[in-house]
Amino acid sequence: AKCLQKTDAFLHRSIGTDVVIARAEATRSDESDEKNGRKSLHTLHMERQEQAERSVLISCQSSTNEKKFLKYLSKHGEINKYFFYESYGVYAVVEFANQESVTSLLEGVAIPGGSHESAVPFKSRLLSLRNLGSVDSSNQLSGRQCQPQTTIPINELIKRLSREESIDKQISSLTEAYQLTEENSRLRFLVCSLLKDIATAYFPECTIKPFGSSVNGFGKLGCDLDMLLDLDSITGRNVKLPKSGLSLEYQMKRANSERAVTQSILSVIGECVDQFGPGCVGVQKILNARCPLVRFAHQPSGFQCDLTANNRVAMKSTELLYLYGELDPRVRSLVFTVRCWARAHGVTSSIPGAWITNFSLTVMVLFFLQKRTPPIIPTLDHLRDLAGPGDKTVIEGNDCTFVSDFNKIQLQSNTETLEQLLGEFFEFYATFPFSRMSINIRKGKEQNKPEVAPLHIQNPFETSLNVSKNVNASQLDRFVALCQESAWLLQQSETSTPRGGGAGGEGAPTPWGLATLLLPSQVAGIKSRKKRRREPASERIKGLLESLKNKNQLKKS
Ligand code: CTP
Ligand code: MG
Repeated sequence: AKCLQKTDAFLHRSIGTDVVIARAEATRSDESDEKNGRKSLHTLHMERQEQAERSVLISCQSSTNEKKFLKYLSKHGEINKYFFYESYGVYAVVEFANQESVTSLLEGVAIPGGSHESAVPFKSRLLSLRNLGSVDSSNQLSGRQCQPQTTIPINELIKRLSREESIDKQISSLTEAYQLTEENSRLRFLVCSLLKDIATAYFPECTIKPFGSSVNGFGKLGCDLDMLLDLDSITGRNVKLPKSGLSLEYQMKRANSERAVTQSILSVIGECVDQFGPGCVGVQKILNARCPLVRFAHQPSGFQCDLTANNRVAMKSTELLYLYGELDPRVRSLVFTVRCWARAHGVTSSIPGAWITNFSLTVMVLFFLQKRTPPIIPTLDHLRDLAGPGDKTVIEGNDCTFVSDFNKIQLQSNTETLEQLLGEFFEFYATFPFSRMSINIRKGKEQNKPEVAPLHIQNPFETSLNVSKNVNASQLDRFVALCQESAWLLQQSETSTPRGGGAGGEGAPTPWGLATLLLPSQVAGIKSRKKRRREPASERIKGLLESLKNKNQLKKS
């Protein structure tokens, strides 16, 4: 960890040679993990951030000739990687091998002029390609060359899944279709890097790091981009004042609280993003939220962005989720499947409200996996016990310590298949005593609820908080009813075995297995809560079975 802190400092002064050192050291410290194909989130951040610094984002025209475009850019140096994508027009992400190439490229870029509108002369690495010569129709960009940045529509996913021959394969196929691509991940870091260029006008050493589903391994193409303005790693914070003799410290403006400082920083940066940030639109400052943030849309990338500051706990929980996802491939697959299922049934929503959030759902999946016999993933308390001295982290009095070295974690040999786990997941939550118990991944065991709330999920690090405080009783009821229905569907041989229509078959294949679970539900349009309360759960399930049987008979007749 020490070595990584050092590389962090290097990175803040990142120019050419320093970056090379930073990369070498980060690689060394994670060597054993890399052998296993695993990278720490810290290493991932370092590599991606550094890549992003050497990259530019260019708005192109669809008539752009790819060869000519590359030839033109190559004049400034070797290109490591490039790709095109569509978002209100065609864009190119171009990563040079060296930072100097970006500097050289920018030296020849013109400031727009001549129109009736005036431009704010803030220079960034978001550029537009102009082509005033003849249009050459060969080798033009076409849709085929563009990398998709959004997921396939649910109907298409259902068709794709119906062609698979096992539920395990359906789950893997869903994960493949939904997870972030290499290109999308690069684009996320590039947007952070472009914003950092704005923020560094005030805080030259700051970084902007993505957190949440953009980097925790559970992000779906099209998910929002959560960003953290990081001022904790600026130099001077750890400079120890000598016990005697002369020393200097900075004079700094003071505010009443840490929160007030965060609010004023976000207010100013938010204002800059709004006034000067090319491509940033619809900027909203939401400074009175529990976690103050600036929300806006970054048009060239199509990302909905949330910028926060002084939010170290969220970065820790991102790191924890990332670690769990890396421990066993079943973790990510099950989370993707449950998230997709929840979205399809409106259990989660893109609009904030009394819905269960993706973050809550993820914690519920993790808890379920801790409850298997033998457990698939360890408890957070166990991960804390494995921590080394360098892992110790206390944030505002909360112990956020857990092991960072994957190799210290011994997993038990649970051989359950994804199909089994999915069915068991729905059963587990169809019968979970939500009214009395709280979900707790720190202990890996349900605990008595410390307060009244329909759904109680203890925040893993700020243990006095409930992650799902927003969820109301009717939303929880819907979730439970849908779990019951899905558990039942997976137990029916009719829905849990392939229906022919295999790959290459004519027409739309008949939905089966996981695909059936994504179809509109029979119970989702749920009646009033009061009415259902009067009947015991067994009656409800009986009713549900009846309605499904009737539905099947209708289909057959
Ligand atoms: N977070 C948290 N406590 C909460 C909500 C969020 O610690 N009550 C942290 C988590 O690390 C979460 C991140 O903030 O991953 C971002 O929150 P959010 O965008 O709501 O969730 P994501 O995990 O990013 O999922 P989504 O794809 O829905 O954006
Ligand atoms: Mg998010």
